[in-house]
Formats: sequence, C-alpha cells, structure tokens
Amino acid sequence: MEEKIRINEHLALTPFKPGDKLNLIRYLNDRVICQNTASIPFPYAASDADAWLILVNEICEKFGFTCNWAIRHAEHGMIGSIGFFMKSGAQGHFDEIGYWLAEPFRGQGIMTDVIAALCVWLFENRPALVRIQAKVYPYNPASARVLEKAGFEREGYLRKAVLKSGTLIDVILMARIRE
Ligand SMILES: CC(C)(COP(=O)(O)OP(=O)(O)OC[C@H]1O[C@@H](n2cnc3c(N)ncnc32)[C@H](O)[C@@H]1OP(=O)(O)O)[C@@H](O)C(=O)NCCC(=O)NCCS
Repeated sequence: MEEKIRINEHLALTPFKPGDKLNLIRYLNDRVICQNTASIPFPYAASDADAWLILVNEICEKFGFTCNWAIRHAEHGMIGSIGFFMKSGAQGHFDEIGYWLAEPFRGQGIMTDVIAALCVWLFENRPALVRIQAKVYPYNPASARVLEKAGFEREGYLRKAVLKSGTLIDVILMARIRE
C-alpha cells in the first residue's frame, strides 16, 4: 500500500518517524486536544511521545500497513495526526477514525481535506470497508462540522457513553458510508 497520501501541494499524510517527537511534545501540550480526544494526556511528556512512536510502529507491524498517520506540512513538519482503529480488523466492514490538528493550523480547512482524503484511501485500499464512523463530544462543534463537510452524517446521540476523567459524557455518532 502507498505510504503517502497527498492532500495538496503543502500537505501529505505519511508514517510517523522518530524526528516527530519534538513536534508531538510541542503541539500536544494542549488542554483542548486532551479534552476533545479519548486518550491523549495533558500535560504531554516526552515519555508520552516515546510511547506513541513505539505504539504506532507496533500497530503498523501487526496489520502490515500504516494505521496512524502524521499530517505533514512541507514547511512546518508534523502538525497533527489522523488514524483508524481497525475496529473490525483489516477485512472488516466498518472502522472508526480519530484526529487532532495543532492549534496554529486550525480554521484553514486542513482537517476537512485530511479526513476526506483518508476516507478515499480507506475505501480504495480496504475493499470490504463500507462504514467509517467517528465519535464527537457535544462540546466540540468544530469537529462535528468538519466531519459533515467531509461527507459524514450524524446518526445518533449516545448519552453518557464515555467515561472521561471520572465523568460520564455524551457522544455524537457520525458516519460516512461507501457510495
Ligand atoms: C476539530 C479540529 C480537528 C478541526 O480542524 P480544522 O482544520 O480547524 O477544521 P476546518 O478548518 O477544516 O473546519 C472547521 C469548521 O468548524 C467550524 N467551527 C469552528 N468552531 C466552531 C464552533 N465553535 N461552532 C460551530 N462550528 C465551528 C468552522 O467554521 C469550520 O466550518 P466552515 O468551513 O463551515 O466555516 C481541530 O480544531 C482540532 O484538532 N481540535 C482539537 C482536537 C479535536 O477536537 N479533535 C477531534 C476529536 S473528535
């Protein structure tokens, strides 16, 4: 499988590499990212970056292709990430995505383009895949909007579906179906 997904002349998705550690620490020390995602800690320590870089390699080796992509800017290096969780295995009919973008780069349409490109890549490279879903916390309307712009539809509202930092929170379920 192609190990690079071109987004535009400035941006591509590529595998993580050890040199991404500094940007991981710089950009993931962001309370908003921690609040909006399932398991990214705040503060984000060097050991968290080390553990992430090991984990993404292990996942890649397990499935034989990249599941967690770095969003790479030609000038600024790694500025975010998007991944799929292999929820039903490589031959399964559904999967779920998660993503974050560094604060300085938000509001420019980047994640809309990234999600759309990853969906195209997933449907091309995993023939059995029919459904790509994403879970958004209700206090994150920007993420729900990005998904909508990338072809996802809101399907449901799951009450008290996630236990996060000791609190049960609601989840908006959104999905894009293969056309
Ligand atoms: C959510 C996130 C991925 C969005 O990425 P982005 O590149 O800034 O998104 P885009 O620029 O493509 O689009 C943002 C859209 O949300 C809208 N938006 C932003 N803030 C909003 C708000 N408070 N209410 C409603 N819409 C909002 C923007 O207007 C834009 O929509 P438009 O093009 O129709 O105007 C990014 O902010 C992020 O990484 N946040 C922290 C981590 C996170 O939330 N991850 C997702 C977990 S589900």
